[in-house]
Amino acid sequence: MSVSMSRKSGSSSGGDTNSTPSGSLRSCSAFTVPGCTTLGVRGVLGVALRVAPRAPGESLRAAPGSPDAARGVAAGTVGGDVLLVFAPPGPQRKLVHQKEPDFIEVLLSHQHEYGLTRDHLKALLIDIVFGGTDTSYLVLEFVMAELVRNPQAMSKLQDEVRHSVHKGQEMVTEDDLTGMNYLKVVIKETLRLHPPAPLLAPHHSMTDVHIDGYTVPANIPILINAWTLGRDATVWEDAEDFKPERFMDTGNDADINFKGNDFQFIPFGAGRRICPGMNFAISTLEIMLANLVYRFNWEVPAAMEKASVDMTEVFWLTVHRKEKLHLVPQMFCV
Ligand code: HEM
Repeated sequence: MSVSMSRKSGSSSGGDTNSTPSGSLRSCSAFTVPGCTTLGVRGVLGVALRVAPRAPGESLRAAPGSPDAARGVAAGTVGGDVLLVFAPPGPQRKLVHQKEPDFIEVLLSHQHEYGLTRDHLKALLIDIVFGGTDTSYLVLEFVMAELVRNPQAMSKLQDEVRHSVHKGQEMVTEDDLTGMNYLKVVIKETLRLHPPAPLLAPHHSMTDVHIDGYTVPANIPILINAWTLGRDATVWEDAEDFKPERFMDTGNDADINFKGNDFQFIPFGAGRRICPGMNFAISTLEIMLANLVYRFNWEVPAAMEKASVDMTEVFWLTVHRKEKLHLVPQMFCV
């Protein structure tokens, strides 16, 4: 998603105020990118990769002049816990106190038990990084495109999010997400229309299988078209339309979920090879989307019509938007 973001000066507690039906818009002193601490598959792993191999107590400060130093990534240990700094130097720099072992530490601790070589570890990490970054950002981009094309859904979502957090709270936290039911169905509906891996991952049949009079021989590559299943007009009402309400308690598809039991809706696959990052992906998407719509109102550039947001998709292993999504955010002060 490409974003035109203008930084305005002035006090965050004051400034010009324009009343709008959904709240007040005013100029604020600074912006942070909402959800940036959890955008983190890349960020968190990036930091973890640097931290894990070091011995406790060893200084992890990035070497002066190194790319890490330029990006503001540094770390050190205090009292046995790892302290990470991953914001650029300046007022927004934050310390993150990491007490839980990270993924690499967990892998290393089981290395001998499972006979994992260094190559196994590298393959696992690559799998996670590739599986987890493209997919989540693609869904976020599609969800923003759908919301901008469907202003009623956008304003319903913003109302829900802005009424679910305490007045003046700077960012939405994970605790705030619990009651945000519309947020959850907006993400579900986007996954139905835009599964980022439309053919899932290629599988092989292990034995001959007979289904509905067809025989699938052993060792045949099998591709499942989750994209078509999600848009099957014999199963879904108004299959091509973006209607998150279908998944609400009162909707026709309230009982349908993406956890692998409803074969018309399998953006994460199904069975034993179902995406292991599903829960992580959903939590990440929820917190990112909630923060994006909480702190900003989003518009297409003045010269464009909402309806003209180009939804053409380009297929490779994952589906991308052909045209970059170009949106203009306007800061919403809480
Ligand atoms: C919206 C986000 C995501 C979607 C739609 C998605 C979808 C999928 C799909 C369709 C598969 C293949 C499943 C199959 O064919 O049965 C898969 C596999 C996988 N995903 Fe995800 N994924 C997402 C996010 C993530 C995240 C955040 C991670 C990790 C942090 C992750 C890690 C993996 C891994 C490691 C595999 C391979 C599993 C295996 O080989 O058995 N995914 N994902």
